[in-house]
Amino acid sequence: MRIVIVGNGKMGQAVARLAEARGHSIHARIGAEENAGGRALTSGRLTGADVAVEFTRPGAAVANLERLIEAGVPTVTGTTGWRDELPRIAALVAARKGALLHAANFSLGVHLFLRAARELARRFAGRPEFDAFILEEHHAAKLDAPSGTARELLARLIEGDAGRRYPITSLRAGSTPGTHLVAYDGPHERVTLAHEARNRDGFAAGALAAAEWLPGHPGVHTVEDMLFGAGP
Ligand SMILES: NC(=O)c1ccc[n+]([C@@H]2O[C@H](COP(=O)([O-])OP(=O)(O)OC[C@H]3O[C@@H](n4cnc5c(N)ncnc54)[C@H](OP(=O)(O)O)[C@@H]3O)[C@@H](O)[C@H]2O)c1
Repeated sequence: MRIVIVGNGKMGQAVARLAEARGHSIHARIGAEENAGGRALTSGRLTGADVAVEFTRPGAAVANLERLIEAGVPTVTGTTGWRDELPRIAALVAARKGALLHAANFSLGVHLFLRAARELARRFAGRPEFDAFILEEHHAAKLDAPSGTARELLARLIEGDAGRRYPITSLRAGSTPGTHLVAYDGPHERVTLAHEARNRDGFAAGALAAAEWLPGHPGVHTVEDMLFGAGP
């Protein structure tokens, strides 16, 4: 496949490395310096591309997605912090009969963790002696807090048991690529469930798998649709 990489940061570079190792070609790499407001995403640069992978910044993603969808390029985005704009982007995808896959977290382990967390919440329902909380840690340069994955974790816990509070604490320090933990703390014991990313390769592999899957799947998809189908 010919892949356009939008965003030349840690994730863009990791996806490009892995894509080349898997025999794909990088059609274009578009960095911030030439792309204010998405202006480098012209039909000239995009013609011949099979798919785009977008990992930029919360303030840049929406303009990039608009340009890519307008140009008819199936697009995978992992950028976090723009979800309030999703309804508008989804309407554009529908109008253009395009394809978009978005995920706050592309690691397979996280999606299994989220399902396990929902089940854990069900098991703790009706046990007021336990307090629940979420803790998420990321490297110092991460811009948004709480993380998109922490927000998804919160949504899953509420699905499992809506009758409880789940306060979120975000820690930004050092270089950890991402840790998410939910705990149930009782008077004599604590139960924790955690996911810890060791490096970015798990995210990059998931994003690349999404890029391989997306062409031919019109509409707006999450990584869960791809991994598990539409079921709960
Ligand atoms: N879904 C997942 O699995 C996953 C995993 C890791 C990270 N993320 C998210 O993905 C995003 C990127 O993460 P990262 O670790 O790669 O961050 P990063 O290393 O800071 O890279 C972001 C890159 O985007 C560039 N950029 C900014 N505006 C741009 C534009 N308009 N066009 C093209 N490039 C632009 C930045 O350039 P400048 O530095 O020059 O501004 C930077 O090189 C973040 O939102 C992060 O939270 C998601």
